[in-house]
Amino acid sequence: MLIRRPADTLPSEITPQAIYRDRREFLRAAGGLALAGGLGLTSDDVAAAKLANTRPGPYSTGEEMTSYKNITTYNNFYEFGTDKADPARTAGSLRQRPWTVQVDGLVRRPGSYDLDALLKLAPLEDRIYRMRCVEGWSMVIPWVGYPLHELIRRVEPLGSAKFVEFTTLADRAQMPGVHAPVLHWPYTEGLRLDEALHPLTLLAVGLYGETLPNQNGAPVRIVTPWKYGFKSAKSIVRIRFVEAQPESSWMRAAPREYGFYSNVNPDVEHPRWSQAKERRIGEFTKRKTLMFNGYGEQVAQMYSGLDLRKFF
Ligand code: MTE
Repeated sequence: MLIRRPADTLPSEITPQAIYRDRREFLRAAGGLALAGGLGLTSDDVAAAKLANTRPGPYSTGEEMTSYKNITTYNNFYEFGTDKADPARTAGSLRQRPWTVQVDGLVRRPGSYDLDALLKLAPLEDRIYRMRCVEGWSMVIPWVGYPLHELIRRVEPLGSAKFVEFTTLADRAQMPGVHAPVLHWPYTEGLRLDEALHPLTLLAVGLYGETLPNQNGAPVRIVTPWKYGFKSAKSIVRIRFVEAQPESSWMRAAPREYGFYSNVNPDVEHPRWSQAKERRIGEFTKRKTLMFNGYGEQVAQMYSGLDLRKFF
């Protein structure tokens, strides 16, 4: 995010709409099911596994989904390089198993969760969310996961827990980008506890009905669709409940540019990029950016009384 501007994106980097329609038709034909639940096949282009028994979840947008190809080849995942094309090229070295997520801090039931146990904690849902990056582009992504509150409820946060900090994997042996000091490793992000408990917040394990490709944050990541993309930490290994507001890697790298809240807000300019408009990947005409990325009805009440210019 510190490196490339949206205007630098070449039209040739963007897959024509027809290609993703092909994939949609392909999934539809093979699965014979509604697309979001179209689980009839394993991808032909990456080693992703079909996720069985998912069910349609609430809050899905009816907007056209971004192509699988664009979702999986236009990524920000600095542990695998800073160019959008790097993660798809270099993330093959990430090992998805064994994988544990440590849950600790101010909780009654801390523990180390094996990913496969985590997958069984709650029913997996298909949720098609709009996602907006602070750099000025957006996508519509059919995630698979369950609400993070399913996990939080089970570990029983103490009354003193006010925030949740997410820490992601930083392993030099698996992640070539960690050798470069572009960010403070490991990548960390944070949410207020009520944001983490919000029913829109997902613990995501898949997209397009299949397990997450490495470049999209395999095997488990957070998704908060009303915030800029960087709040959605990838490949998480630790969830810590704390009293004080945690500092994220982006706040540490550039505190004037990246605040803790990072709610999508067209009225608060990023020092280098206007937030008024966005370009949906796969389209050429820009569209107006909506407050809270269009999820205001669900989330605005969490910020009543908060000056969103000061707490950007
Ligand atoms: N998580 C980790 N661990 N490392 C990262 O560099 N980049 C963030 C976020 N999560 C990032 C991360 C940013 S800037 C964005 S826009 C989204 O992941 C991109 O997610 P996507 O590539 O799946 O669309």
